[in-house]
Amino acid sequence: MSESLDQAKISELTAKYTYGTWRFQKGWKPLQIVDAEGCYFVDAAGKRYLDFSAQLMCVTLGHKNKAVIRAIEEQARKLPYIAPGFATDVRAELSLLLKEVLPSGLEKYFFTTSGTEANEAAFKIARMFTGKTKIIARYRSYHGSTMGSVAATGDPRRWAMEPAGKIPGVIFAPEVNCYDCPIGHHYPGCGIACAEYVEHMIENESDVAAVLVEPVVGTNGVLVPPPEYMPRLRRICGDHGVLLIADEVMSGWGRTGRWFAVDHWDVRPDILTTAKGITTAYVPLGLCATTGRIAEYFDDHYFSHGHTYEAHPLTLAPAIAAIREIQRLDLIRRAQEVGAYLGEKLSALKDKHASIGDVRGIGMFWAVELVKNRESKQPFNTKADKVSGTPLLVDRVAAEMMKNGVFIQAWISHFVIAPPLIITENEIDIAVGVLDRALDIADAEIRGGHS
Ligand SMILES: Cc1ncc(COP(=O)(O)O)c(C=O)c1O
Repeated sequence: MSESLDQAKISELTAKYTYGTWRFQKGWKPLQIVDAEGCYFVDAAGKRYLDFSAQLMCVTLGHKNKAVIRAIEEQARKLPYIAPGFATDVRAELSLLLKEVLPSGLEKYFFTTSGTEANEAAFKIARMFTGKTKIIARYRSYHGSTMGSVAATGDPRRWAMEPAGKIPGVIFAPEVNCYDCPIGHHYPGCGIACAEYVEHMIENESDVAAVLVEPVVGTNGVLVPPPEYMPRLRRICGDHGVLLIADEVMSGWGRTGRWFAVDHWDVRPDILTTAKGITTAYVPLGLCATTGRIAEYFDDHYFSHGHTYEAHPLTLAPAIAAIREIQRLDLIRRAQEVGAYLGEKLSALKDKHASIGDVRGIGMFWAVELVKNRESKQPFNTKADKVSGTPLLVDRVAAEMMKNGVFIQAWISHFVIAPPLIITENEIDIAVGVLDRALDIADAEIRGGHS
């Protein structure tokens, strides 16, 4: 890298020659990052930021985990690439480990290089296996950016592809959201009407191949379903010969205090997709795992799917190391225990800040939702604001936190708090303190009567 490029120039060239994702390009001034370690990353001016969202809820082990880096280095020296038609030691070893940690019954694996590709594989497999077409997804969801996954995405990242720029055959069910139910019910009196409605859709649609859910919704607000929801959905799918696909791209790898979110309810999906934490995000790897029953179908039917980078050795070696690190550091238990502490600290903020409508979460996976009014639950900003480039209040709060050395992910009218699973209680205290002070910005909006 040329020595002559200063920080401002690097930011300028990045914005001039490369796309900033999910945003208007004008006004993008990306901060240059030069280092990262543990729960912190460092900008070119030497300022340190506490990473309260593990970047994109993916750096599960924290930055620069030595064992994962060593696995990448060793694999790069040994066998950096070989075509997916060959067997490798890392492919066999990772498969055995996956069998150990994935929900039981998921026995055959297709490796991709992203979460969206894992979902594309799931859709194609579900369609080939069932001979049916339709996929039922939910509105409060994100499943990826490619034409299939974005078609199944309920949030406004789908809108630019409406109506013709996405795959046909995806229909939407109401999400499970007990804070602000999309169909106006209240738990538990509702009898889980949102799940029952999925059955009504299956019965009336015909041709349904699969139901796709994030078992704990991620970016769209860390929506944790009530205990009956996932088992009920499992039964509905089973009764109608429809596959249940669990998208655990964000909720997997200990994030919720179990290896996978479905483990909370002992639910076995027919297909599980994941990515992100599988390598603690150091290399791009995704996974589409299917049951033995689905796998057997392809013994005698053409498996019509593949990528040049499928089962890329350089992506598999760090996944082995990352899983072993989660085990060695006992991070599933840690996500439960330290996650409960994080939840307590965040919940306490609700007493101080009128702008907080809800604090919810599970394990090391939390959302703080901001509202103008607790009664009406009216958010500060809408989905339409997000895609029209209207400045969002949550982004102002997040910018104030960055000034004070804490990085947090904001989405429309809430924050997603999902730090590396190695975060300490002391680091949580620091980050929550910075959030606490920054929330005065939102409270002032309410006092000032701005809308
Ligand atoms: C639940 C979920 N599914 C799929 C994806 C897409 O993953 P990727 O960005 O690796 O394509 C994401 C990304 O945030 C996600 O959160």
